[in-house]
Amino acid sequence: MKWFAQAPSNIALIKYMGKRDESHNIPTNPSLSYTLDNLSSFVEVENSPAKSNHWERLDLPGAFAFSLSDAGQQRFLAHLDFLKHHFNHEGHFIVRSCNNFPMGSGLASSASSFAALTKAACRALADLTNAEEYDNDKMAALSREGSGSSCRSFYSPWALWDEDGVRSIEIGYDNFIHECIVISHEHKSISSSEAHRRVKTSPRFEDRPRRAAHHLQQLLSAFEHQDWSLAFQICWQEFHDMHDLFATAKEPFHYISQESKDVLNIVKTQWDKRGDGPLVTMDAGPNIHLLYRPDQADMAKQMKHDYFHDNYDLLEKWS
Ligand code: PMV
Repeated sequence: MKWFAQAPSNIALIKYMGKRDESHNIPTNPSLSYTLDNLSSFVEVENSPAKSNHWERLDLPGAFAFSLSDAGQQRFLAHLDFLKHHFNHEGHFIVRSCNNFPMGSGLASSASSFAALTKAACRALADLTNAEEYDNDKMAALSREGSGSSCRSFYSPWALWDEDGVRSIEIGYDNFIHECIVISHEHKSISSSEAHRRVKTSPRFEDRPRRAAHHLQQLLSAFEHQDWSLAFQICWQEFHDMHDLFATAKEPFHYISQESKDVLNIVKTQWDKRGDGPLVTMDAGPNIHLLYRPDQADMAKQMKHDYFHDNYDLLEKWS
């Protein structure tokens, strides 16, 4: 039998970086993300008589050609083992997965792929063990054990993850035009798991929970008061704060390339000129995410035409 699930990626505006408890992916600070419904992972699990679990690529029209490294496959299948153990099930599965976007470049493929695996496997395991179907909150909590940021992909359009757990939150803006300017498709040399470890050695880490909580409060307040320009400033400070942790770790590392800086400069210059523009953020990778309100569609088209269309690969969703 086969079970199939799809899950979206998400982009954090307040970043999860650094773990209080590494074995359960408990964050040191709250995070807030916008769910990217256009960037999805697809997972199919099939029960198998084999003696172990096995991963292969799922062939779907429109899927991005990719292969999962041995370490990536092991991590994915280890999460399946964790779920099997949770359901007290000993049989094995073939797991097939794919994304409709490139992975390994700071586009949170672990978020969507672990969320999709958790959904497909929970359905399969509930069926095979005659257990009740798990609700979204239960699946999000299980998914978090495999990949922290994946727990936010269960909620749309916004997810808040703090010490009380993860849940959806009303922000008042919920239909952004999303444009990801792809600076590089290459695999990241430092994985986000490694980044979570290294940031703890930065002298700036001790005060990071306070700064993140402050940014969160400021951003929620800016959204509430429809102060778009303030929201932009907070998002800008926040991703720089995370990248500063990378740069000041004992073994420093960097994702912001010269091309990333060029794009950031373009967007900042536009903001300075027009007093308006998109929200900007970057994950643990060189790519730049822009979020425009639907009423900024003309500006988004203009900027795309003037600066990005001919020079970069774009992943986009027009609302
Ligand atoms: O879930 P992880 O361990 O891949 O963490 C990813 C964390 C960032 O993407 C860098 C930031 C975030 O909050 O999504």
